Amino acid sequence: MDTTVYVPSGPTPGTPPPTGGVASSARGLTKVYGQGAAAVRALDGVDVDFAAGAFTAIMGPSGSGKSTLMHLLAGLDQATSGEAVLGTTRLSTLDDGALTRLRRDRVGFVFQSFNLLPMFTAEANILLPLELAGARPDAAWLDTLVDTLGLRQRLTHRPSELSGGQQQRVAIARALIAKPDVVFADEPTGNLDSRSGAEVLSFLRRSVRELGRTVIMVTHDPTAAAYADRVVLLADGRIAGDIADPTPDAVLAGLDALRTLETTSEPAVTA
Ligand SMILES: Nc1ncnc2c1ncn2[C@@H]1O[C@H](COP(=O)(O)OP(=O)(O)OP(=O)(O)O)[C@@H](O)[C@H]1O
Ligand SMILES: [Mg+2]
Repeated sequence: MDTTVYVPSGPTPGTPPPTGGVASSARGLTKVYGQGAAAVRALDGVDVDFAAGAFTAIMGPSGSGKSTLMHLLAGLDQATSGEAVLGTTRLSTLDDGALTRLRRDRVGFVFQSFNLLPMFTAEANILLPLELAGARPDAAWLDTLVDTLGLRQRLTHRPSELSGGQQQRVAIARALIAKPDVVFADEPTGNLDSRSGAEVLSFLRRSVRELGRTVIMVTHDPTAAAYADRVVLLADGRIAGDIADPTPDAVLAGLDALRTLETTSEPAVTA
C-alpha cells in the first residue's frame, strides 16, 4: 500500500486567511460543546483552506468533528474560538441578520435526510431558496440544473413520488439554485443504495467540473470520496491528513494511517 499519499496538511497556523481562489477556510477553528467535566472539544484548532471550483471530501471516524466543521464553515453554528471564513468574509464579524443572509445567499446545503417539503412539487422545492429570498429564478440556470440532474420528467412530482436518489437530486438542485459560493453536503449518499449514490456523486462532480461550483462533502465511503478532487482527513477534531486526486485505495490507506494514529493519541475530551 502506498503510504506516501498520507501527509499532514493545512496552512501554517497563524497564516492570515486567503484572499483569492479559496471558497472557505478555517483558522484555529475550535468548538467546545458543553462545560466543565462534560465539555467535548469537537474541533481543536483546525487550519484548512478549501479551493473555489473544487470538490473536496471530508472523512474521519464518527465523532471526529466533520459535521461540526461544516456547520461552523457554513455559519450554522458559532465557533468557541478561531475563525471560519467564507471567501473573505470572517463569519465572527457578522451579526445575526448578516449571518442569516449569508446562509441564504451564499451557502447551499445537502443533508443525508433530503429535507424536502412533502406538499411541494420537485420544482417548487428547487425554487424554494429563491422564493424565501424574494429573488427571481434564472430560467437558464434552472434548465441547466434540471437537465444536468436528470429531473426534467420529475418536476411536477411530490417527494413521496420520487426515489431516494431522485429526492437527493432535487435537494442538490435546491442547494445550487441560488448559485451559492459553496455547497456543503453532509453524507449526501448515506441514505441511498449504491446506484443512486453513484448518480448523486457524479452529479456533484459535474456541478463542480461543468458548472463551476464549489462542493465540500462529508462521507464515510472511500468510493464516494474518490469522486472528489481532494480528501481532507479529520481525527479527534484536528486535520490529520490530506490526499490529492484520491483513489479508493489511497483513501483506504489514509484511513488506515488514521487508525494507527488514533490508538496512540488522547481522546478528544477536555475538562
Ligand atoms: N450539539 C452537541 N452537543 C454536545 N456535543 C456535541 C454536539 N454536537 C456534536 N457533539 C460532539 O462533538 C463531537 C463531534 O461531533 P460531530 O457531529 O461533528 O462528528 P462527526 O465527525 O460528524 O461524526 P459522524 O460521523 O458520527 O456524523 C462528538 O464527540 C459529538 O458527540
Ligand atoms: Mg456527522
